Amino acid sequence: MTHIDYKRRQFLQYATLGTLAATLPGFALAKNQGFNKAPNSSFKADVEIALTAQTADVPILAGAHTHVFKYTGKLLKGPQSALKELPGYLGPILNFEQGQKVRIYFYNQLPEPCVTHWHGMHVPQVMDGHPMYAIYQGEQYVYEFEVKNPAGTNWYHSHTHELTATQVYQGLAGLITISDEAERKLDLPSGEFDLPLVIQDRSFTNGNQLRYMLNRHQRMRGFLGDTILVNGQENSTIPVKTRAYRLRILNGSNSRIYKLGWEDGTPMTAIGTDGGLLEKPETLPYIMLAPAERVELWVDFSGRKPGSDLMLQSLAYQGSAAHMGGDMGGGMRQGMGRMGRMDGASAQNEVISIAKFHITEQISDSPKLPTELVPMRRLTAQDISSPDKTVPIAIGMRHMTFQLNGRTFDMQDHTELEKIPVNSIQKIRIFHDNHGMGGGRRGDRGGMGMMMAMPHPIHLHGQQFQILSRKQNNLSGAYETVRDGFINNGWKDTVLVMPGEEIEIIKPFKDYTGLFLYHCHNLEHEDMGMMRNFFVS
Ligand code: C2O
Ligand code: CU
Ligand code: CU
Repeated sequence: MTHIDYKRRQFLQYATLGTLAATLPGFALAKNQGFNKAPNSSFKADVEIALTAQTADVPILAGAHTHVFKYTGKLLKGPQSALKELPGYLGPILNFEQGQKVRIYFYNQLPEPCVTHWHGMHVPQVMDGHPMYAIYQGEQYVYEFEVKNPAGTNWYHSHTHELTATQVYQGLAGLITISDEAERKLDLPSGEFDLPLVIQDRSFTNGNQLRYMLNRHQRMRGFLGDTILVNGQENSTIPVKTRAYRLRILNGSNSRIYKLGWEDGTPMTAIGTDGGLLEKPETLPYIMLAPAERVELWVDFSGRKPGSDLMLQSLAYQGSAAHMGGDMGGGMRQGMGRMGRMDGASAQNEVISIAKFHITEQISDSPKLPTELVPMRRLTAQDISSPDKTVPIAIGMRHMTFQLNGRTFDMQDHTELEKIPVNSIQKIRIFHDNHGMGGGRRGDRGGMGMMMAMPHPIHLHGQQFQILSRKQNNLSGAYETVRDGFINNGWKDTVLVMPGEEIEIIKPFKDYTGLFLYHCHNLEHEDMGMMRNFFVS
């Protein structure tokens, strides 16, 4: 039995949206806003996939199967390589080519509404999986889009109103890879040397069922599980040969932030980030990976002894409320059976094992790390369409709820400052707004202060952005434990905003008009309303 609260009452809120929508003010503003329930004959798809969200029972732990939600896929048209099933609960990996036209017939067979978002992809509003396009059990939605993104690693997941956290938690997520010409020229490790690593934390009942019990404080912090799964499996051991690999890592967790590092202190070499390949490889001592962020690593196992192991870990760090909340748990149960199993589920100030790379075979040839990867046009202040205007994303809190720009999510709501001219390039400033904090009950203040000090992974739909600057307003020992783990070059769609941090980004809003979400990708925060619309017109 799962302990998930489905909040069915919320469904009513948009049960009538289809009919109401036409009369809502602002609705007529965005063109082509209807549900896309049937294929457009004018859209000539290169790849067609049937993707079904359904319940399933899959093996995750030893013993009883686990009841999950799962995307299952079927390739209807296109190259065989376009779809690769994974064991476990994750949806199939979708492998696309830049320039391909993709049609996905999405069927909802779950006993609750669902909608699917193509995270990182630059697609029109009606194809973007906005919660207003959720469909009910038995219904179909047709997603049609051209793959405009460059080579890289994206993902898809449910984005259902106030159900994103529970649906993703139960399994509704999958990886998307994109390849292109520029990437092929680089001859990066491919095939068996190109490995996906979706990292998620989960908790299980004694009967192996997913557990998701959140009291008010846990909800404020976000779900933290006590068991690490990689690609939907526990105790991941990955066999590798003595050569270079490309690792595509996605943090698919609801709220856990990882400080990725190699057990033996080997630095990490990144070749890609959310939006694709970097200009050139970047070497860091460790890499902070917040929910929804991706990083592609170049890992060279040459010179390592066959039979030896190298552990990918999440290293200890501070700077999250998890360890300030007074509800931190005991130590990990390392060495007591379950790798990656953590008691108490909240300690991010401990080392966590993620995946073990086991060197199986000595081979002699390995590709060399390219010194240059792909050209990238740096956006600068000169590119900003209206230089005197900065779009704010103020992270705040009121009534025990996180807010953005002083408001919580409301399906189609957008304010004046959330209006963006189409085909413009905007400077956006993301910061903690500490002013709205008064008014709470006296006894709440300590708790609120603690929660205000949380990190938030802020995600913007639509086109990828670049980071212009990062400023820490209260340098502390805690920040020192994470500060060398950020990749600030390259295209991003999610940026981790640490407590006290202020980040300026620059983002193009090209091609598509309509409502595009921006939100915290701590999924518990998102579901409590830490999400807003930009209205692009
Ligand atoms: Cu990955 Cu709006 O989300
Ligand atoms: Cu997204
Ligand atoms: Cu948040």
